[in-house]
Amino acid sequence: MDHISLCPLIVLLLCAVILALRKIFKTVIQDHEKSAADIPPGSHGFPVIGETLQFMLSVNSGKGFYEFVRSRRIRYGSCFRTSLFGEAHVFLSTTESARAVLNNESGMFTKRYIKSIAALVGDRSLLCASQHHHKILRSHFINLFSKKSTALMVRNFDELVVDALSGWEHRGTVVLLTDLLQITFKAMCKMLISLENEEELDSLQRDVGFVCEAMLAFPLNLPWTRFHKGIMARGRVMEVLEKTIRERRNETSSHNNNNHHEDFLQQLLAVDSDGSASSSDHSTKLTDAEIKDNILTMIIAGQDTTASALTWMVKYLGENQKEEQTRIAKQASDKPFLELDDLTEMTYASKMVKESLRMASVVPWFPRVVLQDCEMEGYKINKGCNINIDARSIHLDPNVYSEPHKFNPSRFDEEAKANSFLPFGMGGRTCLGLNMAKAMMVVFLHRFITTYRWEVVDGDPSIEKWTLFARLKSGYPIRVSRRL
Ligand code: HEM
Repeated sequence: MDHISLCPLIVLLLCAVILALRKIFKTVIQDHEKSAADIPPGSHGFPVIGETLQFMLSVNSGKGFYEFVRSRRIRYGSCFRTSLFGEAHVFLSTTESARAVLNNESGMFTKRYIKSIAALVGDRSLLCASQHHHKILRSHFINLFSKKSTALMVRNFDELVVDALSGWEHRGTVVLLTDLLQITFKAMCKMLISLENEEELDSLQRDVGFVCEAMLAFPLNLPWTRFHKGIMARGRVMEVLEKTIRERRNETSSHNNNNHHEDFLQQLLAVDSDGSASSSDHSTKLTDAEIKDNILTMIIAGQDTTASALTWMVKYLGENQKEEQTRIAKQASDKPFLELDDLTEMTYASKMVKESLRMASVVPWFPRVVLQDCEMEGYKINKGCNINIDARSIHLDPNVYSEPHKFNPSRFDEEAKANSFLPFGMGGRTCLGLNMAKAMMVVFLHRFITTYRWEVVDGDPSIEKWTLFARLKSGYPIRVSRRL
């Protein structure tokens, strides 16, 4: 065979090889694309520790721990994976995934249980109880957050705020967050156990502070660790609550009506002693341990969150002072004491509260665990994976809220889009104190704006390290002068 006659054969052979290679290459690429599409984008980081170091760097930076999530949301989109403290995590930030996970109609998700948190707030706490136990506990506690309790809280909180504000003009610099933490702590303790003694309040606030700090610490229970300090502080808080419960029972048994208490503890003990309740399934009585764990839980859930949200609100207001303040002042009530009904008339203040809650996203994401393999946003999520609904991203998504970084209370002239306003969560774990928290914020806003003008002493936007909720590191120091 000469060279010429070999040529077509070689060309044919070459074409066949090229076609075969193309096919093999295509299949490999398709397989690769398929497996990449199966699991959410992101990085598992280093073996075992995953991206824990990067997360800790964020916690330790002035931008706060949310920066870890924010930067990955930008890089990977609305669904990404990471690995933290040896566990796989997926973050989701669409309204549709928020609805599916938080409403949990499929029953496929449950709240994440963290052993070290349970050691601090108690494993009978609403925050840690199993799904079944949680249902029973919540049915007991939900009745405490009635309209009557909210009205009482408004009156008491108003009194506390008026009293606290009266001294601010003589103080030079007021570190807003510090004062607000004190006011909200007093409000919680009054509502829950009628504790008003200043010395006892101070010592309890210190101990609850240690418990909160330990919730973020490495769970190593050795004498010098932050975690140990928290465990010891929990012990002291439990002793205070035991003593209070004992005293209440003694008062009830000796029919001492001089000390009538209008607080949550009294209601819980009343159900306990007569075995009946106004509504819902109370066939199972709460144990003292359940009552104590949940009083501590409610102090933690209500104090820091509300104080942080209030501080952010004053900051946003300070940055938008003139127009917004005038509008609030115009709707001001001149009553010496505010009632719950007065607040419903303060429509613009309510929108301002909502807008502050949206922008601050004090609880930035809600952790759950997947109970069976499932698909979210087109990606496969395995059973046992931690799944986090990133509420902050939803609150700042330009497709959900136009100009999301602009403080614009009037955006709430219209209802927010479905499943897009999540400062208090959604579904079976929605914040029990949401109406109370909103009412407290309106009360403070009203009193603060109608009493004072203020200037910011330190506008540093850095975020405090090692706190459960996003707080300004400076505590937002201000100098106030009385409005004429
Ligand atoms: C601005 C203030 C507040 C904010 C932003 C806030 C936010 C939240 C959020 C987002 C959750 C749900 C977390 C999740 O689904 O994983 C929650 C739960 C809870 N909050 Fe609040 N909260 C605030 C004030 C309060 C107050 C004043 C109380 C009153 C004691 C309270 C009591 C609770 C309780 C008991 C839970 C647990 C509910 C459950 O697991 O069933 N919160 N809060």
